[in-house]
Amino acid sequence: MEGSSFCVSGRALVLLYLHVLMICFMHEGYSYGVEGKIASHTVSASSLSPSPSCSPSNTKAGNRKSTLEVIHKHGPCSHLVQGHNPLNHTKTLLQDESRVKWIQSRSSNGSNGLKASAATSLPAKSGITVGTGNYIVTIGLGTPKKDLTLIFDTGSPLTWTQCEPCEGSCYTQSDPIFDPSQSSSYGNISCTSTACSQLVDSGCSGSTCLYSIQYGDQSSSVGFFATEKLTISQTDIVDNFEFGCSENNHGLFGRASGLIGLSDDKISIVEQTAAKYGKYFSYCLPSSSSSIGHLTFGKDGEASSSVSFTPLSTVPQGSGFYGISIVAISVGGNRLSIPSTVFSSGGAIIDSGTVITRLPPTAYSALRTTFRKAMANYRMAPALSILDTCYDFSKESTVTLPSITFSFAGGVDVDLDPNGIFFFAKASQVCLAFAANGADSHLGIYGNVQQTTFEVVYDVAGRKLGFGSNGCS
Ligand SMILES: *[C@@H]1O[C@H](CO)[C@@H](O)[C@H](O)[C@H]1NC(C)=O
Ligand SMILES: *[C@@H]1O[C@H](CO)[C@@H](O)[C@H](O)[C@H]1NC(C)=O
Ligand SMILES: *[C@@H]1O[C@H](CO)[C@@H](O)[C@H](O)[C@H]1NC(C)=O
Repeated sequence: MEGSSFCVSGRALVLLYLHVLMICFMHEGYSYGVEGKIASHTVSASSLSPSPSCSPSNTKAGNRKSTLEVIHKHGPCSHLVQGHNPLNHTKTLLQDESRVKWIQSRSSNGSNGLKASAATSLPAKSGITVGTGNYIVTIGLGTPKKDLTLIFDTGSPLTWTQCEPCEGSCYTQSDPIFDPSQSSSYGNISCTSTACSQLVDSGCSGSTCLYSIQYGDQSSSVGFFATEKLTISQTDIVDNFEFGCSENNHGLFGRASGLIGLSDDKISIVEQTAAKYGKYFSYCLPSSSSSIGHLTFGKDGEASSSVSFTPLSTVPQGSGFYGISIVAISVGGNRLSIPSTVFSSGGAIIDSGTVITRLPPTAYSALRTTFRKAMANYRMAPALSILDTCYDFSKESTVTLPSITFSFAGGVDVDLDPNGIFFFAKASQVCLAFAANGADSHLGIYGNVQQTTFEVVYDVAGRKLGFGSNGCS
């Protein structure tokens, strides 16, 4: 269909609910409303579900120098799964709630969650998994280099991996545990060094600096603050990279070997590689857990030519979060009437590790009402944990859904990918992937479902955040 046939009645019905004028055109699965805004997407129902096998990457990132593949921790492209971690959606959403609580408490305390530890051991806890990110990358550490699969997390400052001899306790990971005694480039950081003093309190074992980080409810990592050679790609090597060599861990980080911290913090990889990459990185999270995205350091050969930038907004000092200003949300091409103070009162951040976007309750309620009206032709399904707007698409071959557009400060409009609107539990339960905070004054979070397929660019030095469409598929 070549962009010129008028809308048919089913679509018109949908749009009537939205009080949109009925002048719209179809073009490759989109329909345009007035003002040229995309009003709806028509997709095959099967495109909303991940495929059981891994589709190879076809991103433009392949020929970029400092690029890592980004893989969903629980999808078929992940070597961490191997039948050990059948995805439990209820659990994912519970973990997501823990993460949100952790983020919101850090935000109100202005804390990056990181401390130097006074002792190598924390009290043993029950080891509840905290949803610290759903996406993993593989980097090399040490000499000779060992490959490690790490969760990547824009909400955390420290990069850490489990280390032998695991004096406290290590959880089961997929890669062999890193052994500093087998690496010629490993170094301890002294207790009296500037690097050690960047951790909030000072903690020492003899003269060696210790760190401790706590993720939400129960997960934690404690160990030596150390330096190593970090290999990002064959040509990109960072010497004396400061990281956590973890001896005592609680929580199941999904068989990953640790975490790569990308927050706006002195000790994060962003700051440590500032001279090399200019505090600039970007990623694209794939449309489903069966596809591959990328994480790229530096500006070199940016994949998407059409990136629009919004200023990074102020966040509580010391939290390390990336603040964004949401100014409006549109459904079906129509701006919801939400007073702008609703968004400004609590502010918002973007986070790679939170799954579901958290909105002020006033905004969520407006979004839900309009979305449900537009979807009135579809059978609803039971709620799933925090998601209260679910549909049964098991008998549908195609689904026409209203577009959802986020407007950020600086005139940036982000029209979400259809896969960025739904959380797919099963064909008979596909849920609107948004939830409400406890109050409008709580911190909003722009989560990772909504970021899928966009090239998300963090120009930390330039204090701006960019979105480019078609970053990956
Ligand atoms: C999924 O997780 C929830 C919450 O942890 C648990 O109650 C439920 O039994 C789990 N379901 C399966 C099938 O394991
Ligand atoms: C934030 O402060 C509250 C109250 O003082 C405390 O209970 C909570 O543990 C703190 N959170 C963090 C992450 O430090
Ligand atoms: C690092 O410190 C630990 C604890 O003090 C010690 O066991 C280890 O040998 C040190 N490693 C190096 C390379 O200095």
